[in-house]
This record gives sequence, structure tokens and C-alpha cells, in this order.
Amino acid sequence: MMDAITTHSYKFRRVWTMPNKWTFLIPPVVDLLDRYCNDGEGWIDPFAGNNSRAEITNDLNPNRPTTFHLDALDFLRLQPSNYYNGVLYDPPYSFRQAKECYNHYGKDLFIQHDYKPTMMDYWASCKIEISRITKTDGIVISCGWNSNGIGNNKGFELVELMLLAHGGSKNDTIITVERKTAYTLDFTTIDTNLTGDAE
Ligand SMILES: C[S@@+](CC[C@H](N)C(=O)[O-])C[C@H]1O[C@@H](n2cnc3c(N)ncnc32)[C@H](O)[C@@H]1O
Repeated sequence: MMDAITTHSYKFRRVWTMPNKWTFLIPPVVDLLDRYCNDGEGWIDPFAGNNSRAEITNDLNPNRPTTFHLDALDFLRLQPSNYYNGVLYDPPYSFRQAKECYNHYGKDLFIQHDYKPTMMDYWASCKIEISRITKTDGIVISCGWNSNGIGNNKGFELVELMLLAHGGSKNDTIITVERKTAYTLDFTTIDTNLTGDAE
């Protein structure tokens, strides 16, 4: 027997706009941040770059104007659970982008090594940590080349999806806005320690 299909509605928009390596300067993104993030009080940004509105900011590059300069996953692991009003999640989208746009910072996150953990584990662990630190009803705004966001398996529901089309053969920038609806994960059973031995 087929499972019932459940859907919920969310706002969808596709707009043409010039690309910018500083995502938060793209006009439709500025508008979106105005609507959800305002002045960033109670928000946190682990890959903050130059233009974050979050109250607490981090970027591995010491030349970025952020409060902390740690690896994003290490930084997220230091944060309290169920605490933040919102998270801005705008990491580099590819090896090439990390190399060419962000002074090589984040390049390693796209290289598959022959030992565990894989880089997919890195991104999955970031999402688990983001889910853990966000309050119920808190918002996560994710930017990238896919619409996965943090995901409903981590207690989030999609509120808004925006495609930024840049013309030619350029990838769209895809922005998801999600709300944490439930504290569904038992974080005590999830090991996001990537230094553990391979099984
Ligand atoms: C897409 S940019 C963020 C742009 C930002 N939203 C803005 O509009 O200014 C990604 C940032 O992640 C930083 N980064 C790369 N790898 C990182 C890591 N492992 N931990 C923390 N920051 C990292 C880069 O230095 C870069 O500034």
C-alpha cells in the first residue's frame, strides 16, 4: 500500500539577478534578510564572510570582520543547544569557488580523502549541529546549489524557496528558509566527532 503523501505550502520565487560572491549583498537576498533576520539579534553565522547580519559571526579566514575565526564545525560544536533565534548558513559551494573567491578557505571541504571521515560527513555534521543549536520556531537560511536545507528529518519545515537565476550557463543560487518545528533528534546518540576511527 502506498504511503499517504503529505505536503505543506511554502512561498516560491524565481528572480533574475547578477551573481555576487558575497551572497548577502545580492538585492533579493537583502530583501529576504530584511524579512526574516532584521538586525540579526540572536542569530549566528558559522561561514560569515564579509556581510553577515548575525550577532555572532565566524569565518576561518582571519581577515574577515567576524567575531571568531574557527573551523565552522568546531565553532558550531561549541554552541549551546536549542538556543539561537536563527542561523545563516552560506558556506563555499564548490572547490573552485573556495579557491577563486575565498582565498582558498574551505577548499579542503571538497576533497575526498581515502580515510574517514568523508567530506559528506562534514556537511552532514554541520547540519546536525545547526539543528541542535536552533530554538524551536527558529529560522535557518541556507544558500547553495541545492534546495536540501537542513531538512525535515532534522525537524525543519520549508517556509520559503528562492531561486536566483544568473543567466548564461551559471548555476542558480538557491536559498531555502526553514523553520524548526520539532526537537526530533536525540543528539546524545549522534556522534559528530569526525576524528573517530574508521569502523
Ligand atoms: C559564501 S562565503 C560567505 C559570504 C557571506 N554570506 C557574505 O555575503 O558576505 C563563505 C565563507 O566561508 C569561509 N570559510 C570557508 N571554509 C570555512 C571553514 N571551514 N570554516 C569557517 N569558514 C569557512 C570563507 O572564508 C568565506 O568567507
